[in-house]
Amino acid sequence: MISFSVAFDPNKGIGIKGALPWHLKDELKIFKRNTLYKNILMGQTTYDGLPRKLKDRYITVVSIDPDYVPEDAEVTHDLIGFLQEHENDDTEYIVCGGASIYRQAYPYAKKAYISFVKEEYEVDTWFDVYDENDWEVTVEEDHPDFIYRELRRKDSTEQAVE
Ligand SMILES: NC(=O)c1ccc[n+]([C@@H]2O[C@H](COP(=O)([O-])OP(=O)(O)OC[C@H]3O[C@@H](n4cnc5c(N)ncnc54)[C@H](OP(=O)(O)O)[C@@H]3O)[C@@H](O)[C@H]2O)c1
Repeated sequence: MISFSVAFDPNKGIGIKGALPWHLKDELKIFKRNTLYKNILMGQTTYDGLPRKLKDRYITVVSIDPDYVPEDAEVTHDLIGFLQEHENDDTEYIVCGGASIYRQAYPYAKKAYISFVKEEYEVDTWFDVYDENDWEVTVEEDHPDFIYRELRRKDSTEQAVE
C-alpha cells in the first residue's frame, strides 16, 4: 500500500530553498511516530537536504542520476515502477516528498498523514495536486501550530470492503 506524509500551509506550500519553511517540533515528532521502522520513499533533493539522518527507517531515495549512491538508503531510478510494484502490497510504503515525488505518487496513495500548518509561510514549493475532495478524515488532532489529520482515499478498496 502506498501512503504519503506531508505538512503544508494554507497555500499548500511545503518547502523553500530545499528545506522546510518552518520548524515545528511537535510535527517532527508525529512524522517520527508515523515512519519509525517503516518503509519510506523520498526524492533526492529532500533526502540530501535533511538536516540530520533519519534513523530506524527503511529509506528508498528516488533519483534520476544513475551514479547516485545515497548513504544509509536504497535507491530507485524508476518511481512509477516502484509504485506499481508495491501499490497492492500489505506492507506500507510512505511517500515523504518532495513536490515532484508527491505529484507523481499522489494517484497511487490510499492513505495520507497530513499536518495542516495554520500560518502562511514564504515558500517556493507546493503540494499542488492535493484535493481535499479525494479524502475522508479518519483521525484529527488539534495542535497549537497545525491540525494533524489521517485520511483515506474515498474510493479506496479498504473503504469498499467495510
Ligand atoms: N512539508 C513537507 O512535508 C515536505 C516533505 C518533503 C519535502 N519537502 C520539501 O520539498 C522540497 C523538495 O522538493 P523537490 O520537488 O524540489 O525535490 P524532491 O521531490 O525531493 O526530489 C527531486 C529529485 O528526484 C528526481 N526525480 C523526480 N521524479 C523522478 C522519477 N520519476 N524518477 C527518477 N528521479 C526522479 C528529480 O530528478 P530531476 O531533477 O531530473 O527532475 C530530482 O533529482 C524541499 O524544500 C523539501 O524541504 C517538504
